[in-house]
Amino acid sequence: MGFSFKTLLSLFPLVWVMLMQETSGSRHYYNVSNNIKGRKQAKNGCNLFQGKWVLDLSSYPLYNSSQCPFIDSEFDCLKYGRPDKQFLQYSWKPDSCNLPRFDGVNFLGKWKGKKIMFVGDSLSLNMWESLACMVQASVPNSKTTYVRKDPLSFVIFEDYGVTLYMYRTPYLVDIVRETVGAVLNLGSINGGNAWKGMDLLIFNTWHWWTHKGQSQAWDYIRDGSELYEDMDRLVAFNKGLTTWANWVDNNVDPNITKVSFQGISPTHYEGREWNQPNKNCNGELEPLSGPTYPAGAPPAAAVVNKVLGTMKNPVYLLDITTLSQLRKDAHPSTYGGLSGNDCSHWCLPGLPDTWNHLLYAALFM
Ligand SMILES: *[C@@H]1O[C@H](CO)[C@@H](O)[C@H](O)[C@H]1NC(C)=O
Ligand SMILES: *[C@@H]1O[C@H](CO)[C@@H](O)[C@H](O)[C@H]1NC(C)=O
Ligand SMILES: *[C@@H]1O[C@H](CO)[C@@H](O)[C@H](O)[C@H]1NC(C)=O
Repeated sequence: MGFSFKTLLSLFPLVWVMLMQETSGSRHYYNVSNNIKGRKQAKNGCNLFQGKWVLDLSSYPLYNSSQCPFIDSEFDCLKYGRPDKQFLQYSWKPDSCNLPRFDGVNFLGKWKGKKIMFVGDSLSLNMWESLACMVQASVPNSKTTYVRKDPLSFVIFEDYGVTLYMYRTPYLVDIVRETVGAVLNLGSINGGNAWKGMDLLIFNTWHWWTHKGQSQAWDYIRDGSELYEDMDRLVAFNKGLTTWANWVDNNVDPNITKVSFQGISPTHYEGREWNQPNKNCNGELEPLSGPTYPAGAPPAAAVVNKVLGTMKNPVYLLDITTLSQLRKDAHPSTYGGLSGNDCSHWCLPGLPDTWNHLLYAALFM
């Protein structure tokens, strides 16, 4: 993630504004079943996110990475020489139900004519590419249109009119150019103009809130009339996420658009979190067994729960934090096609396929 937003903004301010203002064109609305209220986690009494990882040699992986045109090099671990393959074959087993098989044709039929948008940082990108590969593998001969741009990319499955968008905005709230420089404005969310007219929105943000030094995308933080050089990052996250929650409550018609929040995606740089202080994700070949992560939930997950709990509109929390914490084996580490050791993103095929599989079980059926 050596990508600098400050550089991008200073080089292409006009392009940035144009893309920020880009909205979707013609809109076809279909009635979406409106029964997600009250089942933030449980579906038919089953908590999809409580369970364990089991080896399943027959159903996974869901696609062949060398046949999926949508995978960025940073997630393409097999192409970059990851030698072990077992990480591809773990299946998430909820304690009290079985996941339905992922059926891309069924998905395309049910979501015919609809627009689905992932909004957030590179973990959203990771999940978007995963879903595009999962669906494409089900209809390998179907015509697709594929456009990669920043901030808006998309894949259209033309025979079904299903569009999967990816809108990249690492904080959800805006970075605004002021005379002092790039300002992370905790109360500004003009990017939201590009998220209207969707049938499903899947949001995520957290990782960039922690970034300092070279990878910090702003010079100052604005909270109302106050300008800060820095502030407690969890406090800033809480304020920014609250701005997002208000945006959803004021701009999304829950009868038309479903909303999901992709829970906090964990990193594995600190082996002490799983009682192996000298390790990180590099060289890890297996998930942790059992249902819990020794270090417990990251503090940002509590902020997500708190903010979602205050919302008027129903938001489906795709609560992938714990099940992902168990997957210390699922990161690119040194096989991400970039230099360095990436214990933050996830290989494809891999863990994000399970996130999409769970989203499918919860919302797409
Ligand atoms: C959508 O739902 C509304 C209200 O329940 C109903 O009046 C309308 O006919 C439905 N439209 C379609 C296309 O099913
Ligand atoms: C994946 O696709 C490539 C290229 O088509 C093929 O050579 C390879 O055998 C496939 N791998 C698997 C596991 O099917
Ligand atoms: C959503 O639909 C319900 C039932 O048809 C209706 O009572 C409600 O006013 C609608 N909400 C909005 C925001 O349009």
